[in-house]
Formats: sequence, C-alpha cells, structure tokens
Amino acid sequence: MKAVVYDQYGGPEMLRETSIDASTPKEGEVLVRVHATSVNGYDVAVRSGALKMFTGRKFPKRIGVDFAGEVLTAAKAASPFTPGDRVWGVTPLHQLGSAAELICVAPAQLAHYPIELDPAEAAALPVVGSTVITALRDRGKLEARQRLLVRGASGGVGSIAVQFGRALGAHVTGLAGASNLDFVREIGADEALDYAVTAPADLDAFDVILDTVGSNPSAWRRLLVPGGRMMAIVPDLEHPLMSMAYIAWSRVHGARRVRFFSDKPDTRLLTDLADYVRNGAIKPIVDRVYPMSDIAEAHRAMEIGGRRGKQVIRVV
Ligand SMILES: NC(=O)c1ccc[n+]([C@@H]2O[C@H](COP(=O)([O-])OP(=O)(O)OC[C@H]3O[C@@H](n4cnc5c(N)ncnc54)[C@H](OP(=O)(O)O)[C@@H]3O)[C@@H](O)[C@H]2O)c1
Repeated sequence: MKAVVYDQYGGPEMLRETSIDASTPKEGEVLVRVHATSVNGYDVAVRSGALKMFTGRKFPKRIGVDFAGEVLTAAKAASPFTPGDRVWGVTPLHQLGSAAELICVAPAQLAHYPIELDPAEAAALPVVGSTVITALRDRGKLEARQRLLVRGASGGVGSIAVQFGRALGAHVTGLAGASNLDFVREIGADEALDYAVTAPADLDAFDVILDTVGSNPSAWRRLLVPGGRMMAIVPDLEHPLMSMAYIAWSRVHGARRVRFFSDKPDTRLLTDLADYVRNGAIKPIVDRVYPMSDIAEAHRAMEIGGRRGKQVIRVV
C-alpha cells in the first residue's frame, strides 16, 4: 500500500510517499481504508524532531494522527463497525500512520461520521473537534453568556473553538492575524482582534480562555475572573519547562486555574462530535486539500501560518 514515511527528523521535505507492506489487524482491531487525513500540530512537532526525547530514533517513521475512511473488516461479529461503514478516528500518539491507504485501529478510537460530510471535510475534524469539546465543554465548563477568549482563533483548533463557543451561547473574542479577522467574525466571534497589536492588558476579563499558542501563560491567566479556567493545549515553546511548571503551580494556587491536557478521543467523544456537526454547532473548516504525494506542501503551509482551518490530505 502507499504510505508517507520519513527517514530522519527535519523539515517537511523529509516526507516521502512510498510503498510498504500493509499491516494485518491484530485481535480486536478494525481494518480501515483511509480516504483522507489532516495535518495536526503533533505531526509537525514529531517530524521536526522537537519531541525526539520521547519519539526515539527508530526510522523510517510513519505520520498522521486523524483520518476519515471506510471499514474493510470488522473486529468481531458483535462489533458496532461493519464493512462499508464511514468512520473517523485517530491513531495512538505513539503510533502515527494515518497518511496511508490502510490502517488498523482499535474500535475504541473510531466512530461513525455524519454522512453529509465529504471525506476531506470529515478528516479535518477528529483531533481539533475532540480537543475543543474536551477544552470548552468537559474541562472548561463553558456556559451560556460567559466570556470566552480564543488565542489562535483562525487555526485548526481555534476555528472550531470559536464556532463551538458561539453554539454554547458564550460571548466569543478571537485573537488572530490581521488578514483573518473578518473570517473569525464570520464563523461566530463577537469580537476579533489582531494578535500582533493586542496585549493582554488591552482586554477585559474572561471566564474561559482557550490558549492554542502557549506563550506567556501568566499574562493571559491574569485576565481570568476568580473561578475562571484557562485551557492550555501547548506549552510555551520558548520556555517549555518553565511554562509547564507554572501551569502545575496554578492548579494548586489561586482561584484562576490553568489546565493542560492532551487530547484523547474515544468513540464517545467522536460520536458527540458527529452529533455537534449534525446539529450545526461545528462545521469543518478546510483551508486546502492536497494529494498524498504533496503532503510536504501541506506541512509547510501549516508551519508558515496565516491560513484558515485545516490542511487536508486526500489519500484516495
Ligand atoms: N494538547 C492537545 O491535546 C492538542 C490538541 C490539538 C492541538 N494541539 C496543539 O495546539 C497548537 C495549535 O494547533 P492548531 O492545529 O490550531 O494549529 P494552527 O492551525 O497552526 O493554528 C495556530 C493559530 O495560532 C495563531 N497564532 C500564532 N501566533 C499567535 C499569537 N501570538 N497570538 C494569537 N494567535 C497566534 C496562528 O495564526 P497565524 O497563522 O495567522 O499566525 C494560527 O491561526 C499546536 O501546537 C498543536 O500541536 C494540542
């Protein structure tokens, strides 16, 4: 089967499409024909070598976390997934590989996606959609009429957070690049502000902050009302250890908490995501669709920035 691999850490040019043996599903796994996958920050971080302390030096490595596709063989007779079902899901983070024609997945990491979606639209949602539901609904406990700030509002995660915050009835402020402010308003923000000229001190208080950028967590945390929650999904990349220590400290000190979490979507969360798509709370935002042979270009686009929503790879 065709799959994307790389032989050393480095830039997007390390990625190459090649032919490899398809793996055989282990006991209980579902074999899925991948129709599309998307580029996530985790793919970019692993490929660049930024996480090599954890991801090791065994090459070639595969890439791709989320996907949309079709079930080829089901795990067992009683499985909720039968051949032909349209499913979306994620690979385990220690075993990337959704940029490939076939993957074997545990049923707990799969769910049916809404058939109204094109596979490329569906592939844009599993990681960012489940991250936003976890951040705003499950951990942030965002309620109607509360004030939400989204840092990185035009990005993959942020563009879903703006929509979902609006659907939950919150007042949404989005921070984004100057060229994307109209877009951020169009998808549901009450206010959109240019991050290059907006300092924390220029803003009022918020009940919930979703920080997809990570820099200077203490300055943003000060904007929380007492009892407010800041959801951090990325450490300050210039000072990762200091920022993680600060986040840990904030959990025990003070009424304004910063919580860091790692997205762990399962069937329940991916099914909730499908329901939110069906009821119009969340729409996929696809910036551009690339053939699998152009995956390096998709990674490059995400690294350069200035884009709206997700870079998607069509596999078939
Ligand atoms: N912990 C988790 O479970 C989890 C889950 C998903 C993602 N993540 C991480 O979250 C981060 C964001 O992911 P993503 O998919 O949304 O990435 P993305 O699509 O690249 O979006 C990042 C956004 O941040 C904006 N931005 C850059 N600098 C900014 C600043 N100083 N202030 C405000 N906005 C700024 C960018 O705008 P411009 O491009 O216009 O500069 C871009 O729209 C990544 O690091 C990813 O790895 C973590």
